[in-house]
Amino acid sequence: MLGIDVGTTGVKALVVDDAGVVVADADAEQPLSVPRPGWAEQDPEMWWTSTRRAVAAALAELRRLPRSVEIAAIGLSGQMHSSVFLDDAFEVIRPALLWADTRTTAECREITETLGLNGLHRTVGNRALEGFTAPKVLWLRRHEPAKYERLRRLLLPKDYIRYRITGELATEPSDAAGTLLYDVRERRWSGEVLDALDIDRDILPEVVGSADVSGRLTRCAAEMLGLEAGLPVIGGGADNAAGAVGSGVVGQGKVQSSIGTSGTVLMPTASPLVDDQMRLHTFNHCSPDVWYLMGVILSAGNAMRWLRDVVSPGGSYDTLTAEAEEVPPGSDGLYFLPYLTGERTPHNDSAARGVFFGLHLGHTRAHMARAVMEGVCFALRDSLELMRPLAEEIGQIRAIGGGARSALWRQMQADVFGAPVAGMGEGGGPAYGTAALAAVGAGMFGDVKEAIGAWVSTETISDPDPTRMRVYDELYGQWRGLYPSLRKRFASAAGLAERLAD
Ligand code: XUL
Repeated sequence: MLGIDVGTTGVKALVVDDAGVVVADADAEQPLSVPRPGWAEQDPEMWWTSTRRAVAAALAELRRLPRSVEIAAIGLSGQMHSSVFLDDAFEVIRPALLWADTRTTAECREITETLGLNGLHRTVGNRALEGFTAPKVLWLRRHEPAKYERLRRLLLPKDYIRYRITGELATEPSDAAGTLLYDVRERRWSGEVLDALDIDRDILPEVVGSADVSGRLTRCAAEMLGLEAGLPVIGGGADNAAGAVGSGVVGQGKVQSSIGTSGTVLMPTASPLVDDQMRLHTFNHCSPDVWYLMGVILSAGNAMRWLRDVVSPGGSYDTLTAEAEEVPPGSDGLYFLPYLTGERTPHNDSAARGVFFGLHLGHTRAHMARAVMEGVCFALRDSLELMRPLAEEIGQIRAIGGGARSALWRQMQADVFGAPVAGMGEGGGPAYGTAALAAVGAGMFGDVKEAIGAWVSTETISDPDPTRMRVYDELYGQWRGLYPSLRKRFASAAGLAERLAD
């Protein structure tokens, strides 16, 4: 099975054999464009180039194996919400506005005024947030009317790659849910929301099941990728949902934490639970009768990447985390708010910014690294705290994403969350999860749960240390007080920065 994940910082291609063992794994890195503060864009054509690079590298790895491995099916996953605007010739109209782009605050207000919070709760089950797709459509209509005139199709990142490799326009429920145009309870596009926002239903693709065959590899794409024409391409999933398939977080009682570019905490539910104030997202999972609640922080691994690039350009994460390990919990009084690109859960505040608080002359790069890691864990705990009252129990938390590769960060999550944190074996990522979905679609397993039973295993468990847990509880209390005392300042500073830039 070939799993392709169209991420933000890169595209990953992973080949998994019948036993669930990863036999080839390749990444193609790609940049992110920030034309203005708060904006984040990528050209969909670049995703296609990265996909070809990643698949070529994975296939080259396969050829070096002593045995021959044939690809039987392809699964897709990708960054959520980002808007691919196509014209009537299926050409991309402008670079995609990404999930991390926060330019659409005015459009979110407009959507909330049009539908009301109750209307949003009843229809799409989510608040209007800057990262979601619908406000991006309204932004295009308001700010680039000539481009909006050309808009005929709206796709999500992995679905654009599906279009390039199969010629089919399709999505599946886990990604449809993140558009704010999908009725997550009824599992269909919401006519009520589309009408209220005056968005044409015809721009939206067909929704197939996450483990259904959505199309077949065209001859042209097959030649470009070095694969066989006609291979089935499976629906797949949004990166967080596909990741949760890969980490076996589909049934109740399990939770996934992800530290990738963004950070997420995800908890499956057996019904579409929408929290009263919609502080958490409610989305469809990759299994038909499963939903999930999710909290999202916009800069998790990205905060660490930023720190590394600033304090040790060209340096490695391993060196930085080894230094951080020498610093005691609490970083000798240094706190970090990771709101480098604004924040989603729980503040929904595009004006929020990153903060180091408590700096003194004794602090070093190592303290800053530890404070960033701790700040990300605290921010994720904010989401976990929102989930606690809705969860029957929070047992083991399964950690995925680049951050989960660090033993220190896994242990820190366990100590901050007060729960055991598992590192995943072979899988634990969206590309692995979508390879499992491909295996279901290709008929190897009856359903997603069977695939997980056969393939997914945990590799390490970090149990919370009672002493550090108590320390982190106190530190979290302090950390949590910082944002409310800065909220108004963030807003006025953002206003001033805008005036100065004009
Ligand atoms: C989820 C979200 C991010 C992206 C990252 O709502 O916006 O986690 O999916 O790729």
